[in-house]
Amino acid sequence: MSDSARNSATISPTAHYTAQVWLRNGLSDERLSTPQGNALWHLLAPAMAVSRWVGGPTLEDFLLARHELIDLRLTDAIEAGRVSQVIEIAAGLSPRGLRITRKYGDRVTYIEADLQGMATHKRQLLGATPLNHRVTTVNALADHGPDSLAELVKTLDPSRGVAIVTEGLLNYFGRDDVLGMWDRFAHALAGFPHGLYLADIHTNSANHGPMTDAFLLLLSIFVRSRVHIHVGTSQDVAAALHDCGFITATVLNPADFGDRLDACGRTWAKLVQVIEATSSSGGRAGGARLAAQTEPALPSR
Ligand SMILES: C[S@@+](CC[C@H](N)C(=O)[O-])C[C@H]1O[C@@H](n2cnc3c(N)ncnc32)[C@H](O)[C@@H]1O
Repeated sequence: MSDSARNSATISPTAHYTAQVWLRNGLSDERLSTPQGNALWHLLAPAMAVSRWVGGPTLEDFLLARHELIDLRLTDAIEAGRVSQVIEIAAGLSPRGLRITRKYGDRVTYIEADLQGMATHKRQLLGATPLNHRVTTVNALADHGPDSLAELVKTLDPSRGVAIVTEGLLNYFGRDDVLGMWDRFAHALAGFPHGLYLADIHTNSANHGPMTDAFLLLLSIFVRSRVHIHVGTSQDVAAALHDCGFITATVLNPADFGDRLDACGRTWAKLVQVIEATSSSGGRAGGARLAAQTEPALPSR
């Protein structure tokens, strides 16, 4: 099995844990609570309590910060009229689709996409959903074929703006896989009048120090897969996104939103950052392809 396929297979349990965190913080729905997530939450609770007690990071700090900041930027784009179709790739047991469709009704089409096993499981957990909210299969690593993003976007309305969201995905994959995803996302969004990409990322510049190193080691053990902290700064990430075809790319720091979002005001929210990148119709800016570039500043493994 390749590293990429192994990463895809092993990170799914973390989706169950995250679902518990959202539920326990009033962001989710009982339907998305699983016995596996509940058990994992209780298993990790003592370690999280100790870490919090000694002033160290907890999973909850950055999980909530990333979730709230992505929500904020997505709802801003929806309310400004730029976006009315959303594809959440690797959605796992995220409650965002439920919340957005409840809030905006059929003004927004929300598609949750994940690997086949998780997508089937989520459909079973959710039961019937409105026509504008569906769960489907997409493999973020696929360029073509029935499970590819390229096929999925053909089903969307080309006259309406689209947002692609990934949360809790990028740092489980190495440099080439991440750049491949960004290239695919930029390409898919270029066919729409407005394209927005939102994602969390952990970069080296925001993740250093013995406390963070120990924490990341534990996280890697927990997900049975290496957690990749992408080397470089926010500027490096933005440059790599440009190279993949995005027109604008910014990396947001949760601390800058601490006055509006509770979770972003917590000390360890700083472990995570949020990418906000845009494309516009009429083809890809630059059109730079990975292999043709000088080594992008993003990540090495
Ligand atoms: C760490 S979980 C994150 C889930 C959710 N977004 C969250 O924040 O909790 C990672 C998710 O990525 C999905 N996944 C893994 N590899 C994938 C791939 N190649 N394409 C699409 N989804 C993938 C897993 O099935 C899982 O649901």
